[in-house]
Amino acid sequence: MKPRANHNRSLLQHRVQIKTDTSAYPIIIGEGLLEACRDMLKSYPRLFLVTNDTLFDLYHEGFIEPLENEIPYLSHMAIPDGEKYKNIETLNTIYEQMSSQGLGRDGCVVALGGGVVGDMAGFAAATFMRGIDYVQIPTTLLAMVDSSIGGKTGINLSKGKNMVGSFHHPKTVFCDLSFLNTLPKREFFAGMMEVIKYGLILDADFYRFISENREKIAHRDRAVVTHLVYRSCRLKAQVVGRDEKEGGVRAILNFGHTVGHAIESYTNYRTYLHGEAVALGSLAVIRHLVAQKVLDNHVLEDLVGMLDFFGLPTSLPADVDADVILTHMGYDKKRASGVLKWITLDRAGSAVWGESVGMEAIRDMLRGLQKRG
Ligand code: NAD
Ligand code: GLY
Repeated sequence: MKPRANHNRSLLQHRVQIKTDTSAYPIIIGEGLLEACRDMLKSYPRLFLVTNDTLFDLYHEGFIEPLENEIPYLSHMAIPDGEKYKNIETLNTIYEQMSSQGLGRDGCVVALGGGVVGDMAGFAAATFMRGIDYVQIPTTLLAMVDSSIGGKTGINLSKGKNMVGSFHHPKTVFCDLSFLNTLPKREFFAGMMEVIKYGLILDADFYRFISENREKIAHRDRAVVTHLVYRSCRLKAQVVGRDEKEGGVRAILNFGHTVGHAIESYTNYRTYLHGEAVALGSLAVIRHLVAQKVLDNHVLEDLVGMLDFFGLPTSLPADVDADVILTHMGYDKKRASGVLKWITLDRAGSAVWGESVGMEAIRDMLRGLQKRG
C-alpha cells in the first residue's frame, strides 16, 4: 500500500521572505499546501511540472492529479530517479517536452522533487527561451532547507558536480512538510546534515537545539521539524540576501562541501548521499581545526556524537586513496588560481571563509578520517 500524505489539510503556515538584489519571493512552510500551490499556479497560462519516477508513483494521485484537474493547461513529465541522471541528456529531454507542450515565455515550470529535480528543472527554466518562471515544491528535507532556495540551478558533468548552471530564483517555494512522511530514513538523516551545517556555521543556539532535540527529530516530531525547516530557511535567506552570487559570505554555505564533493566524485556518486559526504567533509575540517588548536576537542566529540546518532558516516574506509581524493578536489569549481579556499570555523556557530589550506594539511585531514585497522 502506498504511504499517503495529506496535502489538502492546511494547517498553520510559516513564511520566510527572500530578498536579493534581483529577486524577492516567499518560502511558505506548512502542511497541506496543495490549495495554496494551486491558487498561485493558476495565474500562469501554461505550466509544466517536472518530477521523477519515484515521486510520480507516490504523489500522482494525491498531488499531481488534483493540480491537473483544476489547471487543465498543466502538463507533467517524470524523469528517471537519481543523481546520475542530473546531466545534459536528461536536461535535453526536459527541453524537448517543454517545447512540445507549447510552453512559452509566459509559462512556468513547477519542480516537484528533491535537489536533483529542483536543480535540473530550475536550470531548464533558467535557460528555456532565455529564462522563464519556476516554482519549487521541495520533497526532501535537504531540498526544503537548502537546494530549493537561493537560486542555484544546474547539472553535473562527468568531471564534477554542478559544473554547468546559473543563478535563477524561483517565484515561490512551497515547503509542504507532509512530503516528509514518505521520505526514507536515510534520506531524511542525510538532509539533517545541511541543517546541522547551519548551526555549525551561523547559529550556536540552533546547533544546541538540534543536539538537544535529536530524539524528537529522529521521530520527525512535527513541531520540531517545522522549526528546523523554518530556522534553516531564515538563516539561508539572510546569507543569500547579503550575497546573492557567492562573491563573499555565501561561500560559508559550502562548509564541508569541498571534501564532500571530492568524496562523492571519488566514489562515483554511488556510495554516499550528498549529506553523508558533507558529514565526512565537515568532520575533516573540524578535525583539522582541533589539531590546529583553533577549536576545542569537545566540538569534534559533539559532532561525532550527533553524526553517529543520525546514522551519518564518521570515517572513511582504510583502503580509500587520499591522494586520489585530492585529485578529485582539483576539479572543484571553487578552486581559484590553483589555491583552494576553505570555509572554517572560529567556534561552533561562527564560520570564516577564504582561508587557504595547504595540500599536506588536506592530505592529513583525509587520512585522519580513515578507519584504523
Ligand atoms: P534527490 O533529489 O536525489 O532525492 C533523494 C531521493 O529521495 C530520491 O531517490 C528521490 O526520488 C527520493 N524522494 C524525494 N522526495 C521524496 C519523498 N517525499 N518521499 C519519498 N522519496 C522521496 O536528493 P536530495 O538530497 O534532495 O538533493 C541532492 C541534490 O541537491 C544534489 O544534486 C545536490 O548537488 C543538490 N543541491 C543543490 C543545492 C542548491 O543550492 N541548488 C544545495 C544542496 C544540494
Ligand atoms: N547550497 C549552497 C548555496 O546555496 O550557496
